[in-house]
Amino acid sequence: MTSLIVCFPKPIAGFSPGLGVDTWNLRSLSQVPYSSGDGFRFPRRLARGTRILKCSDSSSHSWNVPVLSNNEVVEKLKLAREGREFLAMYSSVVGGITTDPAAMVIPLDDHMVHRGHGVFDTAMIINGYLYELDHHLDRIIRSASMAKIPLRFDRETIRRILIQTVSVSGCRDGSLRYWLSAGPGDFNLSPSQCLEPALYAIVIQKDFTINSTGVKVVTSSIPIKPSVFATVKSVNYLPNALSQMEAEAKGAYAGIWVDNDGFIAEGPNMNVAFVVNGGKELVMPRFDNVLSGCTAKRTLTLAEQLVSKGMLKSVKVMDVTVQDGKKADEMMLLGSGVLIRPVIQWDEQFIGDGKEGPIAKALLDLLLEDMRSGPPSVRVLVPY
Ligand SMILES: Cc1ncc(COP(=O)(O)O)c(C=O)c1O
Repeated sequence: MTSLIVCFPKPIAGFSPGLGVDTWNLRSLSQVPYSSGDGFRFPRRLARGTRILKCSDSSSHSWNVPVLSNNEVVEKLKLAREGREFLAMYSSVVGGITTDPAAMVIPLDDHMVHRGHGVFDTAMIINGYLYELDHHLDRIIRSASMAKIPLRFDRETIRRILIQTVSVSGCRDGSLRYWLSAGPGDFNLSPSQCLEPALYAIVIQKDFTINSTGVKVVTSSIPIKPSVFATVKSVNYLPNALSQMEAEAKGAYAGIWVDNDGFIAEGPNMNVAFVVNGGKELVMPRFDNVLSGCTAKRTLTLAEQLVSKGMLKSVKVMDVTVQDGKKADEMMLLGSGVLIRPVIQWDEQFIGDGKEGPIAKALLDLLLEDMRSGPPSVRVLVPY
């Protein structure tokens, strides 16, 4: 037997003796014809505002999860997104762009959500240009191929959709993020029943504040991804998130992965580089076992300018041991989020003289200049 103590906003004939409070005894909760609000919605003939004061059930269920109407869901989603600068989203599932943050959702049966079968990438929006869009696009297509996700559209169409989404958003400084997923369909492991692969993209307003203060990093104790997964930018970032949390708990900016042979790999969302041999050689770990970072690759090209100026003698991609990394003259983190950030301490070891070095600063200046006024190969104008 279920007993509900019910509060009516005003006396209801047949249900309340006029006091506004009544006790309902039901054989089971399924006798309540509608469920909503604070757990229950009453028969239509009861007035709005009727509430459950107490529910006791012989099977001791406590039914207090609201069952929401469509409008209530939309209202709550709007509320949850308040203050977030999500300007526009494209979804191939609905075949269009929305600027309503409440509608920026992806289906739960998308295999990217419940199986992690999806890949993603980003591109910075700087002063109305997409920076390095084509390199990021090449990478997501490579990632999709490694994850055996067929392309929903050809490369040119994806590119056009991404640029149009930024255009519709009106965003001039921010971030474009996009995903290719196995798509919605069911909750199985195999994507064989997925209707079709999906493309999603979102534009987020963001002010880029350049911070070039040196940071501390720690060696990550979270197991490194095997290269077959580390080289794909998939949505499986659990090790990365745990590594980041571990670093933060230790008061550090990021965790650094070291591979099974003792060579330096990367951070959770950045590559690393070192200046060695008396401050004259820029060395970067090989990309075989880590994500091929667009920032790192671009920096390798830009660094040649420092060789021309005599600030560096050489730029090399090679295996770097932890021992060599910790006694480097300079260390830096490189990525779309961090840009180029000097590292001044790794675990207990200060790097160089424990201060930000000149090469990291010169490289950051070159990168910022490239972002502002680099060649068309790295800057795609958004037609607003
Ligand atoms: C694991 C990992 N390594 C490196 C990078 C740096 O790549 P990019 O410079 O393309 O942002 C990222 C970027 O998010 C990353 O997730």
